[in-house]
Amino acid sequence: MAANGIHEELFVNPRAEGADQYYPLNEPVPIGHAFPASLYPQNDPLPLLFQPLSIRGVEFKNRIWVAPMCMYSSDNGHATDFHLVHIGSMALRGAGAIILEATAVLPAGRIAPEDAGLWTDSQIAPLRRIVEFCHAHGTKVGIQLAHAGRKASTYAPWIQDKRDARVGGGRSVAGVVENGWPDEVVGPSEIPHDTGYAYPNPLNQKGIDQVVEAFAAATERCKQVGFDFIEIHGAHGYLLHSFCSPLSNDRDDDYGGSLENRLRFPLAIARRVRAVWGDKPLFYRVSATDWAEGPEKEEKTGEWLQWGIDQSTVLARRLHEEAGMDLIDVSTGGLWKNARIAVFPGYQVPFAAHIKKAVPGLLTGAVGHINSGKQAESYLKEGSADVVLVARELLRNVDLPLEAAQELGVAVKPASQYEMGWVGMMGRRHPW
Ligand SMILES: Cc1cc2nc3c(=O)[nH]c(=O)nc-3n(C[C@H](O)[C@H](O)[C@H](O)COP(=O)(O)O)c2cc1C
Repeated sequence: MAANGIHEELFVNPRAEGADQYYPLNEPVPIGHAFPASLYPQNDPLPLLFQPLSIRGVEFKNRIWVAPMCMYSSDNGHATDFHLVHIGSMALRGAGAIILEATAVLPAGRIAPEDAGLWTDSQIAPLRRIVEFCHAHGTKVGIQLAHAGRKASTYAPWIQDKRDARVGGGRSVAGVVENGWPDEVVGPSEIPHDTGYAYPNPLNQKGIDQVVEAFAAATERCKQVGFDFIEIHGAHGYLLHSFCSPLSNDRDDDYGGSLENRLRFPLAIARRVRAVWGDKPLFYRVSATDWAEGPEKEEKTGEWLQWGIDQSTVLARRLHEEAGMDLIDVSTGGLWKNARIAVFPGYQVPFAAHIKKAVPGLLTGAVGHINSGKQAESYLKEGSADVVLVARELLRNVDLPLEAAQELGVAVKPASQYEMGWVGMMGRRHPW
């Protein structure tokens, strides 16, 4: 009751629930969520890109997501305030979900010495701080669990560039005095990725079991961090992909030769992660082709010559059926040193479309040179994918999700603190 005896509505700046600090609550919907059509009639009907997506009860507010991006900025595998600011800035700018960078389940599974890790409990707390910030700002966040395999113990890209400029190319493997671990690099076979990379030690059964258990232990830590989802990194020539491809795997045991054998290790990891993770969203990133010269299969003999879309589709189906995989994030390449790739906008989308058509019930993500709202919407509309992932354009323009909404004529919620920068987009201010 006010002093003059009249009942008045009180106006306070409410706090986001569950956060350990004060953050203003974004109302009436989270950042990056389309406003209800009752407030903004132009939001009926909504373009697919801004239609929410529910996976195992987790609601994603839109379908333009941040692809995983290594930042080579971790402190012995621990996230730092750089990651809080970097990921936090994406959480403030409307992305439907953020996938944290490739995070090694074992120290020897890092690509470079400064890669992210989740092999020990002290790595949980700095990640939890980032996740809590994202959640307080209404953004779902997950992590890409990874093992670099034979591409491990390399330099951060800018250190490689510096080395190349000073002493010429020729070496990519970081030595022990450069914080590398060249003698501990593992792979399916003794085939290095390229000249200048480490000679991998072929994993024996004990080593394979250790990697499977390391994925399981990292998954347990993901639960403690509070991630909304996990993506298993099965792409780009790293450990799982290198077991799948006949170009990197020439084993003659249960893990090499036939397609069944080459899929055994990734499927074992996926099933184990699912068992620990329980009924929560689980994704897998695949490279759907090696882009090596020649066909995927020798027609006459039936021999698989490289990894490609037909085998990727078999893997996708089995991941879905045997590990309850919810979404496959379809990338390409990264394994074959001589790959020649014709890169153009959406060049990887047909691979996502192929898997989506072949494996009903498995959601697909498209990635690769998707840089605008209309472009992204076109892939969803033609039924090629369920979500799009963006990497480099977000490094250039972190506001891409909000600009995509503007481009598609959708009114979405900017962060309350940044609303004055988006008045034109909202049409009118504070109508709720
Ligand atoms: C700086 C940087 C780091 C990357 N790190 C990862 C990674 O950790 N895991 C991964 O699967 N892909 C990684 N990628 C690939 C991206 O996720 C994405 O698939 C690729 O850049 C193509 O998308 P874009 O055209 O939107 O950049 C990285 C890309 C960039 C530019």
